[in-house]
Amino acid sequence: MTITLVPSLRPLPALPDRPADADPLGVLGVPGQINLDHAASAPCARAAADAVAELLPWYASVHRGAGALSRRCTLAYERARQTVGDFLGARADDHVIFTRNTTDAVNLLARALPAGTTVVTFAGEHHANLLPWPRGSVRLPVPESPAAAVRALDAALGELRRVDAGNEPAPRSAAPVTNPARPGPPVLVAVTGASNVTGERWPVAELARVAHRHSARILVDAAQLAPHAPVDLAALDVDYLALSGHKLYAPFGAGVLVGRSDWLDAAPPYLAGGGATGHVGAATHDVRWTTGPARHEAGTPNLLGAVALAAVCAALTEADRDALHAREQRLLARLREGLAALPHVVELRTFAPEAPRVGIVSFVVAGRDSAEVAAHLATAHQIGVRDGLFCAHPLARRLLAEAAARSGRRDLPPTALRASIGLGSTAEEVDRLVAALAAVG
Ligand SMILES: Cc1ncc(COP(=O)(O)O)c(C=O)c1O
Repeated sequence: MTITLVPSLRPLPALPDRPADADPLGVLGVPGQINLDHAASAPCARAAADAVAELLPWYASVHRGAGALSRRCTLAYERARQTVGDFLGARADDHVIFTRNTTDAVNLLARALPAGTTVVTFAGEHHANLLPWPRGSVRLPVPESPAAAVRALDAALGELRRVDAGNEPAPRSAAPVTNPARPGPPVLVAVTGASNVTGERWPVAELARVAHRHSARILVDAAQLAPHAPVDLAALDVDYLALSGHKLYAPFGAGVLVGRSDWLDAAPPYLAGGGATGHVGAATHDVRWTTGPARHEAGTPNLLGAVALAAVCAALTEADRDALHAREQRLLARLREGLAALPHVVELRTFAPEAPRVGIVSFVVAGRDSAEVAAHLATAHQIGVRDGLFCAHPLARRLLAEAAARSGRRDLPPTALRASIGLGSTAEEVDRLVAALAAVG
């Protein structure tokens, strides 16, 4: 059989050999291409590429073979679980379950909720943290500040508990009625750590405190937070956390759900199949499911994805996170100042301009279609950004309307652009984007 390559695809340049002292958090890329779309998928870190290259010759089955190769792969997979759990501050009795990505992790938790659980989210979430939840979930309006988010959650959970208790709504000033001896039906609060539209950080520790005061649990969608800042479940007192490896400089489609084991062990397996069972008898439904992470990881796992993710977690653990954060914040400030100086560019934001953020900025170019601007940046300037509504349609639409009102402009497009930075982004890349946008006006 002859395989014909697509003629327009030129061969990719070879990757340079890794020098012995190469930074494990250096990122791979293609010379000349500027990737300012880290929030969609971050480039691959050296640490991940090296870990995968090292394991590839040993590639064999995981949890399924007695041979030396298979045992090594099983060990590598379980070590990866440990490393990722340690990186995220998992408690001793938490489960660390490998998934495909954040979407998969949130869906897994949605399927593991005890019957009758009410889920409380905010309308500013990514679709991955809006759509998997069952009917009857509560969606709170997008708050105007982190403090307003905490107040709104407190009020909503207080109201839920009052309804649970069969009470009439109390006056607005009343303290929450929470009886820890009778916590009521399960409630899960599901919030993002950092918005994928604005990069704004959410007050996770405060929201966790409020949730627990009302005997609720909390899930943090850390897809955008974890690549930019340390996230520690135990320190934040968060019950569950989800993230994606491909946003954390690790390729190969691995994500993770970490958190309390009781709901997860009591739930039906996310996928039914090999690896999730303790015993399978001859009768059709004679099956005993195992407990632990394996209950929700049926089928052959994504070994390389898990190992790549763990390698980045290990490298970040070793790194000076404060220095990385400070560097990124300087670049972010440069980018936002550059955009603010362009009269035809309007930034999208939920909170006040100075609210803490990770390296993400969404904006519009007045009078220009966002998809056309993104295509122009790619073809004329080799700059990759994202355009659209960023899988957060309710939030993006609201912020576009708010941007129009704030700027007083009637010519803003119906979708936006997003630039996002991370490890490996440079001041020169930021300046080239700003210069290219200046010329677009
Ligand atoms: C905040 C947030 N949550 C969840 C997701 C979904 O991630 P994935 O596509 O890796 O499942 C994304 C992706 O952009 C995101 O930004």
